[in-house]
Amino acid sequence: MTFDEIRRLDQAYHMSTYGRQQVAFVRGDGAILWDTDGKEYLDFLGGIAVMSVGHSHPRVVEAVRAQAGTLTHVSNLFYTEPQARLAQRLHDLLGWGKVFFANSGAEANECAMKLARKWATAARGEPCAGVVAAMGSFHGRTLSTLAATGQPHKHEAFRPLPDWFTHVPLNDEVALDAAVTDATCAVLLEPVQGEGGVREASAEYLRVARKICDERGALLIFDEVQTGLGRTGRWFAFQHHDIAPDVITLAKALGGGLPIGACIARDDVAAAFEPGDHATTFGGGPVPCAAALAVLDVIEEEGLVERSRAMGAYLVERLRAALAGGALVAEVRGVGLLVAVELTEQRSADVVRACLERRLIVNNVTPSAVRLAPPLVVSREQIDHAVEILAEAIGT
Ligand SMILES: Cc1ncc(COP(=O)(O)O)c(C=O)c1O
Repeated sequence: MTFDEIRRLDQAYHMSTYGRQQVAFVRGDGAILWDTDGKEYLDFLGGIAVMSVGHSHPRVVEAVRAQAGTLTHVSNLFYTEPQARLAQRLHDLLGWGKVFFANSGAEANECAMKLARKWATAARGEPCAGVVAAMGSFHGRTLSTLAATGQPHKHEAFRPLPDWFTHVPLNDEVALDAAVTDATCAVLLEPVQGEGGVREASAEYLRVARKICDERGALLIFDEVQTGLGRTGRWFAFQHHDIAPDVITLAKALGGGLPIGACIARDDVAAAFEPGDHATTFGGGPVPCAAALAVLDVIEEEGLVERSRAMGAYLVERLRAALAGGALVAEVRGVGLLVAVELTEQRSADVVRACLERRLIVNNVTPSAVRLAPPLVVSREQIDHAVEILAEAIGT
C-alpha cells in the first residue's frame, strides 16, 4: 500500500488518539527504518525506547518464529516453559523477586499498585491504598496509572480519577517526607523520568525515599518500564545508586517489540497475592516470553549494557560539542542512551519535524525537550550522523 492509502484507512477507521507524523514504516534493521517509498531513516527513538536490540534482530526473529510455530497461546491456567524460564531469568538478573507478567508498562504498574495495597492492608490490618508519586512522572494511560502520572494536563478530560494519589516535586525530600502517611502503601518513582523529559531522581532523594518507606512500612516501587534492561547503562537504572526497590516494573525493551510487561516483587511482598487476586489472558504468553528470552541473550552476549553506557556518553559529548552556543539550546542531559536536548523555547515539535525531513527520528517528549533513545546497538557513525542532522535542524 502507498502512504496515502494507509493514511486514508487510518483516518477513516482508527480512533484519532495519536498525533502521528506523516510517515508509514514498512521495514526495520538495527537502527534503520524504511518507509513506504523505500526511503531510509535513522531511528533515534527505537519505538519509544523499545527496540534496544535493534529492529528485526535475527535472534529475536528466529525465537518468535520458532515459538509461534510450536505453541502460541494456552492461557495462564497452564504452565509453559518460556514463561517459567523468563521468570527465573529476571529473578537472576535482579538477584531477588518473583514475577507477574503483564502485556504493557501500564499493566505492570497496575499489578504493582494492587500488590502494594494488598500487602500493606494485610500488614496493618486496615485498608491502606495511598500511593505517593512524583510530579512530571509518567506511569501509563489506564485510569489508575493515569492518576499516578504526575502530569495534570493529561488528567483534565478524565476526571474524576481514582483519588488515592499524592504528587510531590521530584528530588524534594522534605515534601516526600510530609506526603508519606499511615495511609500510604507505596511510593512509586521512576529513577529517571522518561516521558517527563529525561529527569534524574538524585541519589540522595532515592536514599531518603528508601528510608521513609522502611520506617513507615510502605513499599518502594521503581517504574523501570523505560529505564530498565540497559537503557541507562546499567541493567536497571536503580543500580546507579546503592539502594534497591521492593517492587520493580518493566516493559518496553523486554519483548524486543512484542507486548510484555513484568512486575517483580521481593518474595515476601509477592506472597501477598493469592490465586484469583490478579490475572491476565495474554500476559506472559509463550511468544512474547520467547522473544524476551532472546532479547536478554542478545543484551548479554553483545554487551549492550556497557555499550549503552559508552555510546550514551559519546552521544551526549558530541551533542554538547555540536550544539554549544546555539541560541535555542538550553541543556543536553542523559543517562546512558536515554538523552534529551532541552530547548530555550517551546519548539521541540518543530525540531522533530525538521529532523524527520532529514530522515532522523527523534521525539518531542515535552514542548521544550527533544528525546533520543536509539537502539543500544547504534554505532558511532550513526551517532555522528544523527548529531549532524540534529544540529542542522536546530539551526546551530
Ligand atoms: C516509565 C513508564 N511507565 C509506564 C509506561 C506505560 O507503558 P505502556 O505504554 O506500555 O503501557 C511508560 C510508557 O511510556 C513509561 O515510560
